[in-house]
Amino acid sequence: MDSLSDVSFLNSLFERFYPIGSCENGGVTRLGYGPEENKMHNMLKDISKGLGFKVETDSAGNSFVGIGDAKYEKYHIIGSHLDSVPSGGRYDGVCGVLSGLLVLNWIKKYNLKIPVKVVAFRCEESSAFGRATIGSSLSTGSIKDSELAKLKNVNGESLLDVFEKYGYSPEPYIMQNVIDYIELHIEQGRVLWEKGMDIGIVTSIAAPRRYRLNILGRQDHSGATPMYMRKDALCAAAEVISLVEELGKKESVHSTVATVGIIKEKPNVMNVVPGFVELGIDIRGIDKDSINRVLDGLKKDTDNIMKRRGIDYEFQKISSSDPVTLDRSVIESLKRAAKKLNIDFVEMPSGAGHDAMEMANITKAGMIFIPCKEGISHNIHEKADLDKVIEGSKIILEYLKEESL
Ligand code: GLV
Ligand code: MN
Ligand code: MN
Repeated sequence: MDSLSDVSFLNSLFERFYPIGSCENGGVTRLGYGPEENKMHNMLKDISKGLGFKVETDSAGNSFVGIGDAKYEKYHIIGSHLDSVPSGGRYDGVCGVLSGLLVLNWIKKYNLKIPVKVVAFRCEESSAFGRATIGSSLSTGSIKDSELAKLKNVNGESLLDVFEKYGYSPEPYIMQNVIDYIELHIEQGRVLWEKGMDIGIVTSIAAPRRYRLNILGRQDHSGATPMYMRKDALCAAAEVISLVEELGKKESVHSTVATVGIIKEKPNVMNVVPGFVELGIDIRGIDKDSINRVLDGLKKDTDNIMKRRGIDYEFQKISSSDPVTLDRSVIESLKRAAKKLNIDFVEMPSGAGHDAMEMANITKAGMIFIPCKEGISHNIHEKADLDKVIEGSKIILEYLKEESL
């Protein structure tokens, strides 16, 4: 394989996606099921057609790229997603789709008889509708269509409305005839970067549990209301935020993490005691008992905080999934492929969520990580090396060759 032309191949594709959703601060905003994500999928279609591939769109808007009119009895799926968080980077998800196109191009170029489709799933990030991996959940049957009406974006538009507008179907379905799913992704943490390693072979994925806490304080005049008479929702929220950090730290020996990533306060003005706060809480880990301890502590101590302050609250589950163990036979095959190519690797868990979690419900799933600079991700400074995409893609091709023998 000629890696110089592989770099220019990837670079040329990367450049085509580059302007879509560009922000003035240097990053990108390509929210799931929004106009920029649509443009990313349209661009993928243009690129794929230009390469002589065929593109299909499923009922959820996920894109699949294959070679010609090949009607496979069974096929491998490789890929990732094309949406981003607000002010995010250009590598999260996109690297996996680029890798898929590179592998597909090699298969075509070397006339290999390997049945593969490249997927770009819709709306992997939870930042658009508060729920992650929506496209892959719809195509693996792990979401109920009734959920779509409850999922709303910042404009208050429900996912069901958006689906109606685009002509997508809210009915989940289960992809058929899939042999396995392999996703290349940037690590989004610092393990590979600090070890100076190029490749991680992922063993498990820490699934997120997400909750909304509505704190129903009392809006009052900030000058005329004595301190002891207040039901300040923001002060109650401050205690909960510290509690979440403390619970996460306590469980960090089990690799559990806990974050308050959303805070919305009303009315959010200088001379009013805050009457209402919404917090978005994200708890993740690979040890279910440890995650449950954080959750139990959160529920119990939140109740104590609110009772002490005489404040009502609503604690709502947004989504809950269990940690996923990736398929051992796939991990071993990926390791064999890497060894055959003399590429060093480490086995590692994933702290971030991925479409592979959903695909693992219907088929054997595996993942390859490549480093991102300083482990920075979900950030405009996210950066990955396209050489590493090539290295990871070579492992995927070698794996596919072995599996197709
Ligand atoms: C996906 O990027 C996640 O939030 O883990
Ligand atoms: Mn992401
Ligand atoms: Mn991602």
